[in-house]
Amino acid sequence: MTSLRACFFMAGLASLALPLSTALAAPPAGRLLAAQCAQCHGTGGQSASGIDSLAGESASELYSEMLEMKYSQDTGDIMHRQARGYTEEQIRLIANYYATLSGGGGGGGNDDGSKGGDD
Ligand code: HEC
Repeated sequence: MTSLRACFFMAGLASLALPLSTALAAPPAGRLLAAQCAQCHGTGGQSASGIDSLAGESASELYSEMLEMKYSQDTGDIMHRQARGYTEEQIRLIANYYATLSGGGGGGGNDDGSKGGDD
């Protein structure tokens, strides 16, 4: 009897949770796409080289920059070739993904502050 009630409860919960869980299943798309960028822009968008970090940039900024580079006539530019390989929809996913990451303390490019632990 309790299991039947639990069953109804679960069913109700499942139907409630369905739109949410499909939304939660979405992130890997942006993250997988963004994995390509990591070779140059760093893991998780935190660059260890001279190339800009992408983490924490605003989604709209990244999106418009990517489109600009995608449609740029400057075919010798490295990012033109990168950006051209993605659809606008994929670029939107990538931009949204990077925007969700922390830029390491505000995303303002200021990386001083506490350096780890004190033990
Ligand atoms: C082969 C190396 C390489 C790959 C892969 C790469 N980039 Fe870049 N990207 C660069 C270089 C070099 C620049 C030039 C700007 C610089 O020197 O910081 C750049 C610049 C940018 C800029 C403009 C600068 C900024 O910080 O706003 C954006 C945005 C960008 N890349 C996004 C991406 C995204 C998104 C991906 C993955 C789809 C990606 N890049 C993959 C090398 C790369």
